[in-house]
Amino acid sequence: MLRITIRIVLLMTLSQQILGNVVILLADDLGIETELYGMDACKTPHLMSLARRGVVHEKTWTVVSSCSPSRASILTGLPPHQNGMYGLHQGYHNFQSFTQVKTISNILSDSGIRTGIIGKKHVGPNDVYKFDYEVTEEHYPIMQVGRNITLIRDKVREFLSVNDSRPFFLYVGFHDPHRCGHTNPEFGQFCEKFGNGDPEMGTIPDWTPVAYEADQVHVPYYVQDTPVAREDLAAQYTTISRLDQGVGVVLQELERAGALEETLILFTSDNGSPYPNGRTNTYEPGLQVPLIVSSPRDQNSWNTRTNELTSLLDIVPTVLDWFNISYLNYTMFYYNMTVTLTGRTLLRDDVNTTWFNHKYIYASHNLHEVTMYYPMRSVRTARFKLIHNLAHRMPFPIDQDFFISDVFQDILNRSLADDLPWYKTLDDYYYRPQFELFDLKIDFTEKNNMADNPHYKKVFHKLFNHLHKWQNITQDPWLCSPGGVLQDSGDYADEHQCFPLYNGL
Ligand SMILES: *[C@@H]1O[C@H](CO)[C@@H](O)[C@H](O)[C@H]1NC(C)=O
Ligand SMILES: *[C@@H]1O[C@H](CO)[C@@H](O)[C@H](O)[C@H]1NC(C)=O
Ligand SMILES: *[C@@H]1O[C@H](CO)[C@@H](O)[C@H](O)[C@H]1NC(C)=O
Ligand SMILES: *[C@@H]1O[C@H](CO)[C@@H](O)[C@H](O)[C@H]1NC(C)=O
Ligand SMILES: *[C@@H]1O[C@H](CO)[C@@H](O)[C@H](O)[C@H]1NC(C)=O
Ligand SMILES: *[C@@H]1O[C@H](CO)[C@@H](O)[C@H](O)[C@H]1NC(C)=O
Ligand SMILES: *[C@@H]1O[C@H](CO)[C@@H](O)[C@H](O)[C@H]1NC(C)=O
Ligand SMILES: *[C@@H]1O[C@H](CO)[C@@H](O)[C@H](O)[C@H]1NC(C)=O
Repeated sequence: MLRITIRIVLLMTLSQQILGNVVILLADDLGIETELYGMDACKTPHLMSLARRGVVHEKTWTVVSSCSPSRASILTGLPPHQNGMYGLHQGYHNFQSFTQVKTISNILSDSGIRTGIIGKKHVGPNDVYKFDYEVTEEHYPIMQVGRNITLIRDKVREFLSVNDSRPFFLYVGFHDPHRCGHTNPEFGQFCEKFGNGDPEMGTIPDWTPVAYEADQVHVPYYVQDTPVAREDLAAQYTTISRLDQGVGVVLQELERAGALEETLILFTSDNGSPYPNGRTNTYEPGLQVPLIVSSPRDQNSWNTRTNELTSLLDIVPTVLDWFNISYLNYTMFYYNMTVTLTGRTLLRDDVNTTWFNHKYIYASHNLHEVTMYYPMRSVRTARFKLIHNLAHRMPFPIDQDFFISDVFQDILNRSLADDLPWYKTLDDYYYRPQFELFDLKIDFTEKNNMADNPHYKKVFHKLFNHLHKWQNITQDPWLCSPGGVLQDSGDYADEHQCFPLYNGL
């Protein structure tokens, strides 16, 4: 009898444990340029302290290096070509996910979990991306909900103080360290002056600005080492420090509410940093993102690092796993193929203490701004990477935000003056071959294209076939591009086929 009681009590505590919460902390355009990844010039003490409560993933990639498409992928577990968010959501860009798509917030809400979003949302339509509690740029100025960490603290506190016994899912979308020169140049290139206490900049009581000098920064290999670029990086670091302190503020609020010990915390970013070869690219600086997984159920994993290959498509499966909820079985459009998640959970179970490791990591890009059609598909393994530039005869497009930055203007000016200390030329950057194959083990800067090298023929075909398979499983409308046309309805409804165009591609 006693034994049975103990067992029941044990089961009850277990199931209570299973009812923990999830918090996603999302940075905006943060790559791996911080001390979290050994770049000691850029200090992030709060991320370092979160890392001591979790696992730092050394090898994580977004599926697309663009804001709305990436956020839509994080929240659906599906790549942009499958969830419909082909490009940016706001203003005249106007992209939306398909109304049939199931998002993690809606699935959780239907399963009795309270959902909230604070900060940058940047996805739609609203019915598809619904949260019970919403404080986003749709209701407030983005500067306030995304960069004012005192306001963020107030809103997190409000969300956590609701008297509701249901477990919660809270998504905090920081707008830092996104560029600012395109929309709010009065606050500096990265809004690094916003709220710093200077005349007309206002104050953010929870933020202690950290200033950097141009000679203190670490200039990454993909950025030109010039005074202009160094100034820009110094400003970026200051804004990264506000993000870092914002993470600290949210963790403090969780602790204050007594929720820290029962909450899975994921920290990551939508895409890499806003520099050439970074955001909007499928090169590593565009796709590689930070990831900390802090699970109170797996304290053995705390303060460790892993090299396993992971993708932001793993977030939906991870959250579902945490709440022990299954993905839904549904189809979209006239396809009879069930929509399946290609990500896997990042949580270890008690028995199996090895992490899940992807052998292949995929990316899919179509547009950033509406004018920037430049579809790319890519696949990588631990060693090799293949990029397929589907529209390679077009110049690679440049977004408004990056164009106006001093860093890009510096590239233009110096290219004209033939005085650019960079690892590429502007021409190389604009005009890319159809296929780019890199052996990252000997060429981590992705400079030497092996696509036509006979020694890499087998690798090329293997990667290409895996990419094609993934595009097929994820119902990619670009499956046959640019050399062919996909037929998938009418006579070809049951057997989709690629038909050649004889265009030489
Ligand atoms: C919280 O809600 C429960 C159930 O609705 C109620 O009994 C309790 O008094 C509430 N507590 C507070 C502090 O409002
Ligand atoms: C940030 O938010 C706080 C709280 O709402 C407010 O007092 C402060 O003025 C805001 N700071 C800026 C720079 O807008
Ligand atoms: C998870 O859910 C399944 C089916 O809904 C149930 O059988 C199982 O006991 C649950 N696992 C835990 C650990 O609660
Ligand atoms: C999904 O639903 C279809 C049609 O109802 C069924 O044939 C299939 O077995 C289901 N798949 C899963 C994984 O439950
Ligand atoms: C542990 O997980 C790995 C990766 O998912 C899997 O390959 C392996 O078979 C699992 N082992 C056990 C004992 O479940
Ligand atoms: C680029 O050149 C233009 C025209 O000379 C100049 O106005 C601008 O300040 C330069 N920008 C940078 C970042 O060097
Ligand atoms: C989908 O399944 C339905 C019912 O099984 C069938 O009538 C229809 O032809 C199928 N459509 C396609 C595109 O395969
Ligand atoms: C996609 O995969 C299905 C199922 O394996 C296969 O029948 C079909 O031929 C593939 N389509 C293309 C265009 O490769």
